Amino acid sequence: MILKWDDQLATGVSDIDNQHKELFNRMNNLLITMREGNGKNEAIKTLNFLEEYVIKHFNEEEELQRKNNYPKYTVQHSEHEQFKNELQELRNVFETTGVSAIFVINMQQKMSKWWRNHIRELDKDLGKFLIEKSK
Ligand SMILES: [Fe+2]
Repeated sequence: MILKWDDQLATGVSDIDNQHKELFNRMNNLLITMREGNGKNEAIKTLNFLEEYVIKHFNEEEELQRKNNYPKYTVQHSEHEQFKNELQELRNVFETTGVSAIFVINMQQKMSKWWRNHIRELDKDLGKFLIEKSK
């Protein structure tokens, strides 16, 4: 596995944690597909899958934040948008120049860093907020 989920990344909200785990799996699939050079079609298929799941996950998370008047919604939303833009850039590279080994390594580091930071700095705070609120 390239992107590793561990307990430090747990938000305590099982729906969010399960989706994060699933996202990590899907990102790993994409990275493996690219690394193995299974052809553009396969990589685009995996990317489509990941994009769909990322959008679904962000929408659900943001809905939960709005419903609960989470005070850091705006920061969350703009970080989510930023990640969606990165996926869009990735798609552009796929469809134009194609991916190199260096590109795959950079992408892996970028995604891993983004998710670890986002979860640790924002989603864990959201988890704490939601748990506190439900008491
Ligand atoms: Fe988030």
